[in-house]
Amino acid sequence: MKFFIDTANIEEIEKLLPTGFVDGVTTNPSLIAKQGEDMAKTIKKICSIVNGPVSAEVTATNYSKMLEEGLYLSSLAKNVTVKVPLTLDGLKTCKELRNKGVMVNVTLCFSTAQALLAAKAGASFISPFVGRLDDIGENGMDLIKNIVTMYKNYSFNTEVLVASIRSQKHIIESSVIGAHVATIPPKVIYELYEHELTEKGLKAFLDDWAKTGQTILPK
Ligand code: E4P
Repeated sequence: MKFFIDTANIEEIEKLLPTGFVDGVTTNPSLIAKQGEDMAKTIKKICSIVNGPVSAEVTATNYSKMLEEGLYLSSLAKNVTVKVPLTLDGLKTCKELRNKGVMVNVTLCFSTAQALLAAKAGASFISPFVGRLDDIGENGMDLIKNIVTMYKNYSFNTEVLVASIRSQKHIIESSVIGAHVATIPPKVIYELYEHELTEKGLKAFLDDWAKTGQTILPK
């Protein structure tokens, strides 16, 4: 499973890069606004430090403007994935951008029917929002199961990019279902390695080691 980092914060991305966990990055207008920096500058910088796809979202709502914005965003760097909302204009934009060889992430997906349309429009990624579905009392994971099954049934190339992740449970369940990508907020990435038995075990090893008076590296 690929891990994308769900942030527009460059320091957070830089901190995670040496771990090898960063297969890509996703941003959205809210994440860009939170940083308070120029969008194009931010996207270019992220693309220069991350090898994988970096999602940058259009903010127009009509086809021609979305296409114009999408082409501009894709010109910022080779690894830009243009993010479009799951609307009719967004799907038309997706199709046209894909015809031009641009990678597209169709976002704000909340139903299997929407995911089917995105795949038919040739999306590179579909972003179902699991956390926001859980928030309204639905089960976000059911949507992931349905989309993964449907895409397998028809051998669609669109990758399932699980978005709106709130906890490590979302990541683990998505990986068991077979989703291709999880886009994860930095704080949830850190939760993945935490286990009380790891901490307890490490402390015991180090206490025993200290008693030997040895050092691994020659003094
Ligand atoms: C990702 O690309 C989405 O925009 C993001 O995961 C949404 O997360 P949220 O529901 O926590 O805002």
